[in-house]
Amino acid sequence: MENKLARIEELKREKGVVILAHYYCRPEVQKVADFLGDSLALSVKARDIEAKTILFAGVHFMGETAKVLSPEKKVLIPNPEATCSLAESCKAEEFAKFKAQYPDALVVAYVNTTVGVKALTDICCTSSNALQVVQSIPADKPIIFAPDKNLGSYIQKVTGRQNMIMWNGACHVHEKFSKEGILEIKKSYPKAKVVVHPECRGEVAELADYCGSTAGILSYCGESECDTFIVVTEPGILAEMEKKYPSKKFLPAPSVEGKACNECEYMKMITLDSIIACLENESPTIELDEETRLKASKSIEAMVKVG
Ligand code: 13P
Ligand code: SF4
Repeated sequence: MENKLARIEELKREKGVVILAHYYCRPEVQKVADFLGDSLALSVKARDIEAKTILFAGVHFMGETAKVLSPEKKVLIPNPEATCSLAESCKAEEFAKFKAQYPDALVVAYVNTTVGVKALTDICCTSSNALQVVQSIPADKPIIFAPDKNLGSYIQKVTGRQNMIMWNGACHVHEKFSKEGILEIKKSYPKAKVVVHPECRGEVAELADYCGSTAGILSYCGESECDTFIVVTEPGILAEMEKKYPSKKFLPAPSVEGKACNECEYMKMITLDSIIACLENESPTIELDEETRLKASKSIEAMVKVG
């Protein structure tokens, strides 16, 4: 592995490439990242970074978002097959028909969508800022919230807002965390705090001491006086938790199928080998239709303005 890490550093220097990686990537992939972050931080970084070429170690929609915001940059993605069940659950053509049924509504879409859906969106959000985005919209305005019904229901519960029309999508990883499995761990670690990503089902989010984005979860674990946490999100984040807070204990939550943790197979498609091949070939890249890109950029920029 050391040879592969060294090869990547050499290629990065030689070709002037900056690597952005999401917390759910494999630990060895996180090691080669120049910037590691949640989807909001990575979108902003992709826009502001001074580099001609970005390699996005994450799923396809993340690379697309980078290209939407920085069309002049080359955006490399190590594996174009690394998709996302939420983005896949909401195809632009079907979404356009859905949207047409509610002409008065404003569209809020999670960044976990294709560029085609973002082009049909008024304002994007991530799990970091979904609350602020929804609160920025006048209370009497109906909202179409897509594609994650769990994040949407969580926001609806926190805000008490009634007029939200949900697209019926979910993340296959977060949907499968088990309430019973978490309660079972709690029996052995009664003082442990439960940290949950809002893509989880309502009955799981209800167990949370903290519910928020990957970056929010990381900050909470650092600030909390507690030293043990049950982590109810993709376990790739454990590497960064253990690195940042080595004296604390992090326990991955189990899935309803009885698995000890619940990985996103798409995020795990990004390997050191695929990064080396991508850097050597300077391919695959993200290419977007300019009209769609321009429409999508408005909804992402609207989100970045809210925070
Ligand atoms: P964050 O916005 O918390 O980084 O989450 C992205 C994601 O894909 C969650 O499944
Ligand atoms: Fe998509 Fe879920 Fe994987 Fe996140 S964890 S990238 S939402 S499939």
